[in-house]
Amino acid sequence: MKRMVFGVVVIGMFLCVACGSNAENSSAQVEATLAPVPPEFAGKTNPFGPEAAEAGGEIFKANCVSCHGPQGHGDGPAAQALDPKPKNLAELQKTAPDDYLFWRIATGRPGTAMVAWQGTLTDEQIWQVIRFLHTLN
Ligand code: HEC
Repeated sequence: MKRMVFGVVVIGMFLCVACGSNAENSSAQVEATLAPVPPEFAGKTNPFGPEAAEAGGEIFKANCVSCHGPQGHGDGPAAQALDPKPKNLAELQKTAPDDYLFWRIATGRPGTAMVAWQGTLTDEQIWQVIRFLHTLN
């Protein structure tokens, strides 16, 4: 009987440790799905506050809605024909850091319909769009 109690305690301790480390793993995995930000973009921060979201919304409407859709859900009129499909930016913005978003918008994603926007948009306009992305749900 004593042995059984000991066994239950040991199993309990093991489960507790296992569940703790699982929780850590899963949050690491969420971050690991994003590519590392190249050094020339890493650590960049948005010079604008939330008030820039309105200007960013106009830029989004003019340049991004056709693929990403009005709410950024990846369901714009052009999205049907694309492979890979445009990302759901409302979801992405919840986990992706701003330097990651800036890097992807500025340089695009080779091999996809996501082109580089630097040259078309100024750095300021990209940061304003990022403020807008953070209002999406
Ligand atoms: C011609 C269609 C098209 C337009 C226009 C477009 N995108 Fe994209 N975008 C895509 C596609 C397709 C992807 C998915 C690429 C992939 O699978 O990673 C994408 C991905 C993204 C990503 C996520 C990148 C990643 O891999 O994490 C961001 C952020 C983004 N777009 C922002 C924008 C913004 C902001 C604009 C407007 C300035 C814009 N896009 C305009 C098609 C488009």
